[in-house]
Amino acid sequence: MAKAEKTLDDLFLDTLKDVYHAEKQILRGLTKMAKSATTDDLRNAFETHREETDHQVQRLEQVFEMVGKRAQGKPCEAMQGLIEEGKEIMDEFKGSVALDAGLISSAQAIEHYEIARYGTLINWANKLGMKDAAKLLQETLEEEKKTDALLSKLAGEAVNQKAAA
Ligand SMILES: [Fe+2]
Ligand SMILES: [Fe+2]
Repeated sequence: MAKAEKTLDDLFLDTLKDVYHAEKQILRGLTKMAKSATTDDLRNAFETHREETDHQVQRLEQVFEMVGKRAQGKPCEAMQGLIEEGKEIMDEFKGSVALDAGLISSAQAIEHYEIARYGTLINWANKLGMKDAAKLLQETLEEEKKTDALLSKLAGEAVNQKAAA
């Protein structure tokens, strides 16, 4: 019976908790990836996005406030898996010419997950009449897309550079 009473508000809150947990894991992941990166460009990209991610966590906390709920994470298994794969690549390709390409591919999988999640949250926020929340989430979505585009560019360079070396 209880299940039938769940609403889009519940789903929104649930997904908000999922993304909140994911972003906090990404903060730690980006710190590790920045340390592993072998070029300044890639390290800078990870460090810049780490700072942005800090703000993204704060934006999510603002959205929790808007819905009158305590900011709280709910373990995001998808992100745990993506971060775990990233760690494996860091270990297995450490010191190899393919390390940066591997780091970028892991990071892009993470960005794509985020882009999917924020797109959904924005859609639902609009449906629920939460214009201010939608606007905040949109700011984050733009950062995720911008990061993904930068990583695509660096991916091309990483491969060319190593092939030429
Ligand atoms: Fe993010
Ligand atoms: Fe991101």
